[in-house]
Amino acid sequence: MALQRTFHQGTDFRRALSIAELRLIARRRVPHFAFEYVDSGAQDEITLRRNRSAFEAIGFIPPTLCDTSARQQRTRLFGAELSSPLVVAPTALNGLLHRQGDLALARAAKAAGIPFTLATLSTVTLERVAREVGGRLWMQLYLMQDRRVAREIIARAEAAGFEALVLTSDANVFGQREWDRRNYRAPGQLNLRNLLDVARHPGWLWQILWPHGIPRFANVASALPPEARSARAGVAHLPRLMLPDISWQDLAWVREAWPRTLILKGVLTVADAERAARHGCDGIVLTNHGGRQLDGTIAPLEVLPEIAEAVGKQLTLLIDSGFRRGTDVVKALALGADGVMLGAATLYGLAAGGEAGVTHALDILRGEIDRTLGQLGCNSIAELGPHLLKNSSR
Ligand code: LAC
Repeated sequence: MALQRTFHQGTDFRRALSIAELRLIARRRVPHFAFEYVDSGAQDEITLRRNRSAFEAIGFIPPTLCDTSARQQRTRLFGAELSSPLVVAPTALNGLLHRQGDLALARAAKAAGIPFTLATLSTVTLERVAREVGGRLWMQLYLMQDRRVAREIIARAEAAGFEALVLTSDANVFGQREWDRRNYRAPGQLNLRNLLDVARHPGWLWQILWPHGIPRFANVASALPPEARSARAGVAHLPRLMLPDISWQDLAWVREAWPRTLILKGVLTVADAERAARHGCDGIVLTNHGGRQLDGTIAPLEVLPEIAEAVGKQLTLLIDSGFRRGTDVVKALALGADGVMLGAATLYGLAAGGEAGVTHALDILRGEIDRTLGQLGCNSIAELGPHLLKNSSR
């Protein structure tokens, strides 16, 4: 009888050959509610799936007999060299996945020679990440109802030496992640099924809950109402903390307040990309927030070519949402992106194995990028272009 194909069935993250396999290990390592926060999309998850199918719709057309023995994947972003065209994206509540949370992500990014972006809603303070890790640090900014919080974060990030600020503009009316919500019986209170599931994860309890208690929103705790400070309650309170009246005027004052590299995250139209350039942004992130916001939104890859054509010479173009393979990264670069932000892919590594797990995720992707370059007859990222692709949906 033929053997069934199976992924690695255990919890050894080093056995994962792909990000998909690492995801399954992560799912076994942490309680369901923590995994679901990372993994789920909004509503019917149409956009979550579209992020993947957008890559599948694009095929490579490799030339043959090209010497690629000199290939490398270094690139430059905002004037500084990166060992790979990757940036660790800002994600909230990383401390729910691993005790070291943001620190582990920052260390793995630094070791890999790529920037790490700390979230406003991180579980470690920005000062601590700068002091204990350093490296190329970017700070993500959410504008919350009290704008003083943002002013403080800008000043603190500048003082701590962060090199770029990433203003998130697409989540101030918060997405309805129904699969995430179903784990709670009331805001911040897990239902019985999930409490029992937490009890079935003694490793997680021992590593996270026992020594430290539930992680807190370390950066902004003092600005939050007491009931919203812990990550447990915070997941449920997040939608209410956001500022629904965020506008281009906010981008203008953020530009005034922040003297270094400024990146607007949440752009999907040519008009908004051009407006970001006029407001003095240095870069933008094309994103649908990993399918966690407006369900039914297109994949950023679908609008990348027209945005690259319109503003590619003025702005650094970053992209995220659904990147799980080196081939995905190469497709985006060939369509005009300068770099790719990784959210879930590196979080699966974090949940599966802390810093070493993140390093493993980055190694998988870097290996895949290297092979893809070689198989496409390219020695460098600069050689990539749309001539190597065919969009089968056209
Ligand atoms: C999220 C927010 C916090 O996607 O960015 O959960």
